[in-house]
Amino acid sequence: MMASAFKILLPACWALGITLAAPTQHPLTGVPTVILHPYPTKQRLSFRENGNFKITIFSDLHFGENPDDGIGTVKDANSTRLMRAFLRDEDPDYVVFNGDLITGEYTLKENATLFIDQILAPLVEAEIAFSSTHGNHDNQVNITHLDEILREERIAPHSYTRAAPPGVGGVGGPGNYWVPIYSAVTDSAPALILWFFDSRGGVSADGTPLPDWVDASVAGWISRETALMDAAWGHTPRSALAFVHIAPHAIQAVQATLNSSTDLGLNDDPLGDGSVQDSLGISDEDTSSSNKPINVAAGARDAPFWEAVSGIPNLHAIISGHAHGNEWCAREPGLGVRFCFNKHSGYGGYDKARWGHGVRNVMFSLSPTGDSRECTVLNVETWIQLESGEQRSRVNL
Ligand SMILES: *[C@@H]1O[C@H](CO)[C@@H](O)[C@H](O)[C@H]1NC(C)=O
Ligand SMILES: *[C@@H]1O[C@H](CO)[C@@H](O)[C@H](O)[C@H]1NC(C)=O
Ligand SMILES: *[C@@H]1O[C@H](CO)[C@@H](O)[C@H](O)[C@H]1NC(C)=O
Ligand SMILES: *[C@@H]1O[C@H](CO)[C@@H](O)[C@H](O)[C@H]1NC(C)=O
Repeated sequence: MMASAFKILLPACWALGITLAAPTQHPLTGVPTVILHPYPTKQRLSFRENGNFKITIFSDLHFGENPDDGIGTVKDANSTRLMRAFLRDEDPDYVVFNGDLITGEYTLKENATLFIDQILAPLVEAEIAFSSTHGNHDNQVNITHLDEILREERIAPHSYTRAAPPGVGGVGGPGNYWVPIYSAVTDSAPALILWFFDSRGGVSADGTPLPDWVDASVAGWISRETALMDAAWGHTPRSALAFVHIAPHAIQAVQATLNSSTDLGLNDDPLGDGSVQDSLGISDEDTSSSNKPINVAAGARDAPFWEAVSGIPNLHAIISGHAHGNEWCAREPGLGVRFCFNKHSGYGGYDKARWGHGVRNVMFSLSPTGDSRECTVLNVETWIQLESGEQRSRVNL
């Protein structure tokens, strides 16, 4: 079928594709209007012509383990094989690396970021858009989240990973940013915002533990960015999905409420200190400047962040890795935010044979709103896909 004939069959929101470049100034007052374009040199990302947008998540790859006995290189080759197979079989529109790309404890100062080159090679070759969050193992004596972000920016033209503006993210946590996805590249406003947050953790260059929660400064930044989006695009019915490596503190209590007779996926990692955002290596009494606990009174140091997340318009879910033995999705009853664990993808990192390896997929489908140009997300489905071919725990978000 010819492309032009095919276009007629598409709903109006894709077929018209009218470019509505936002005016830079108010036509009467001359006051500059907000233009939000965080990736001026990159291609705008958009849904497919069939109205779908599929995200495949690689979590906890843990490259670089066991350099002495050679097993690490076998694990890394296995993880690379897994990535290539999923990129081919899943054919994603966007890939997320949800933290712990490297087991930084084993890296050397002079070449630690070369692991990023290895990890990203299949993505660079396939020319698929992607971005990363970073985990506690990515902040170690010889590697930092910022090192990994800068390396990605340098070697991977299709990476959308970026660092937050100065003052946002706290010590060890620069990886806070968002990526707009348009229903069509020519649309005036995005249909979907992907948010990425930095839950820090690990240690700094001198070996002192870093806080393992999203810094309170990120809460204000979320509100400010949301206000800018509203100013630039109006209150469009844009959807959102969020990623953070370590599960928010509030998720710990959710585990006790899970119903094991429904199709949860694995639930093998009991959540507690260190497996949710809070206090790894830092006691409540520690008030040294950079590690000063915040909001202990509210019960969790990530409370400002969690509250800000709950205010993101049309947030379908926030997705975390870190606990390799958990795969479930559940709604956190306190603020009503839907949460999902990833599937452990890496052959590195702690493991049990029966857990297997795989990915979480998220499929967004658009529907026309009736407006001639804008589309909104009608359906969001997520499921675990194992390397063995098995699929499980399919749910709508
Ligand atoms: C690598 O993958 C192969 C095939 O799945 C598996 O048999 C082997 O145990 C894996 N090796 C390591 C070190 O993970
Ligand atoms: C960091 O890298 C240096 C230089 O290669 C190496 O001597 C040191 O053992 C590494 N430190 C750690 C904690 O891995
Ligand atoms: C870093 O250098 C060491 C020592 O030469 C080497 O064994 C290791 O494979 C290198 N790491 C990477 C990621 O290239
Ligand atoms: C658990 O889910 C099953 C199947 O949906 C349902 O029949 C059962 O009532 C649920 N149990 C609880 C305690 O909610």
